[in-house]
Amino acid sequence: MDFLPKEIESYSSQFSEQENALLNELSRETHLRTTMPRMLSGHLQGRLLSLLSKMQQPQCILEIGTFTGYSALCLAEGLTTTGKLITIDTNDETMVIAKKYFAMSPHAGQIEAITGDAREIIPKLEQTPDLVFIDADKGNYLNYFNLIIGKMNSGGIIIADNVLWSGKVVAPVKENDHETKALMNFTAVASSHPRVTPLLLPIRDGLLILRVI
Ligand SMILES: C[S@@+](CC[C@H](N)C(=O)[O-])C[C@H]1O[C@@H](n2cnc3c(N)ncnc32)[C@H](O)[C@@H]1O
Repeated sequence: MDFLPKEIESYSSQFSEQENALLNELSRETHLRTTMPRMLSGHLQGRLLSLLSKMQQPQCILEIGTFTGYSALCLAEGLTTTGKLITIDTNDETMVIAKKYFAMSPHAGQIEAITGDAREIIPKLEQTPDLVFIDADKGNYLNYFNLIIGKMNSGGIIIADNVLWSGKVVAPVKENDHETKALMNFTAVASSHPRVTPLLLPIRDGLLILRVI
């Protein structure tokens, strides 16, 4: 579901920073070669991720859910010169596309792409992320939040995508709709956690931004 009327979205895109050539080509290839290109963050959300990252100037970014690498490249734009981005995905086919574009980006040496289950990999990470983007399987959002909140310092930012889930979170929820229930539970628990200040932005499919206190 698109929350914004098409005309508003294209007007907003027109007056926002344009995608660079690499992101444009990645978006094109994702639409040609993958079955669910809608999973890619896209122009406006990508520019917001880039802006937030540039404001945060992170030393370490953790992304959960790489897909073809679009959001990772946007987030990497804000890394400090010695900073590092770690991105995790279970899908080795889309990871091949992501790695191809990471290698062509100015941040090639700063991005570590790990293929595997984020639930197993995050506990082994020794870094303290300043910026986390949660964008993987919806049923595990709360698990990811619980795995990372203890690793974060005050001033860190956690961003979770798809928290409006095409509006399903405000409609009667079907008994067997476990993803919507999990997202609603995650949003309620994470946004009321004593260590965060929350902002739910109704951009694209809903971005929950949590600033760690
Ligand atoms: C919505 S896509 C990510 C989109 C990407 N962040 C972007 O904006 O371009 C979700 C991704 O999460 C991955 N995923 C699902 N379960 C996972 C898990 N347990 N650990 C790591 N990645 C997972 C999927 O393979 C998929 O590529």
